[in-house]
Amino acid sequence: MLARHALDAIGHTPLVRLEAFEPAGGAEIWLKLEGGNPTGSYKDRMAVAVLRGAMERGALRPGDRVVEYTGGSTGAALAFVCAVLGLKFTAVFSDAFSESKKLAMEAFGAQVLVERSGNGAITPDLIARMRDRARVLAAEPGSFYADQFGSPDVRRGYEPMGLEVAGDLAGEVHALIAAVGTGAALMGTADGLRRAGVEAQVIALEPLQSPFLTTGKGGAHRVEGIGVGFEPPFLERSRLRDIRAVDQDSAFAMCRRLAREVGIFAGGSTGLNVVAAIDLAAELGPGKRIVTLGCDNGSKYLGGHIYRTSALDQA
Ligand SMILES: Cc1ncc(COP(=O)(O)O)c(C=O)c1O
Repeated sequence: MLARHALDAIGHTPLVRLEAFEPAGGAEIWLKLEGGNPTGSYKDRMAVAVLRGAMERGALRPGDRVVEYTGGSTGAALAFVCAVLGLKFTAVFSDAFSESKKLAMEAFGAQVLVERSGNGAITPDLIARMRDRARVLAAEPGSFYADQFGSPDVRRGYEPMGLEVAGDLAGEVHALIAAVGTGAALMGTADGLRRAGVEAQVIALEPLQSPFLTTGKGGAHRVEGIGVGFEPPFLERSRLRDIRAVDQDSAFAMCRRLAREVGIFAGGSTGLNVVAAIDLAAELGPGKRIVTLGCDNGSKYLGGHIYRTSALDQA
């Protein structure tokens, strides 16, 4: 494939059938493998949609500065797209998130401002301080707030994921099931399916350890990127068939199985998606197709707990 620039490497990801994980007499399970995007996650799709959308509207011009507060994956995606489009990027980050995510943003030339957490914990107070600092910076002349929790381009950025799935499966998709952070990836993919004329049932997932969507009460959990503890801004509950809570430890164990048994190396939210897809496959039965999302690449998690040898020994 010839490319004009690195943005052309976003999307057109493989859709892999997880036959080895399908329950006997159950539905087919297909995983959209997004870890091959340039910064290793589906966030590249939304970063290019937000920044190109703003440039097309004239709200953002080459040389301007993009500002966002981020725990890492969104920041890396924005930093990458800014590098290609000739934009500056300032991330408001914190020492509560991993150092490698800071280095990834800096590798793309971003300025990374670190808000002190005090004790390494991600707390509502820390997030509020990060957001406030980003808003102050974004109000300066020549600055643009990417607004990952509000810009409609975020959800729109994931529509191609649905179009790609519909094309690859010739429109035969019965269910789309995935964990939500902002809800943009799930809803945007559902929008893309709908644009292709496919009406699949849509099911949202969250960690059982932070069951805000199913019980109204969030909690501490370890699945990065999801279970944000407030109503996901892009989640359209009226479009959902169901919302399910999945145990994070089964999700992490599934990550290890995926890597060892089928060579799919992913993060905790992907493991969680596959656990729920397997249950749904047993419920739906034969002749049905389930699609779920492989949100990102496992190499982002090598410094964390999911792939530690001690965890492997216990598996
Ligand atoms: C690894 C990972 N999985 C899942 C999600 C959830 O995606 P969305 O915010 O589009 O619902 C995110 C978002 O930050 C993520 O980083």
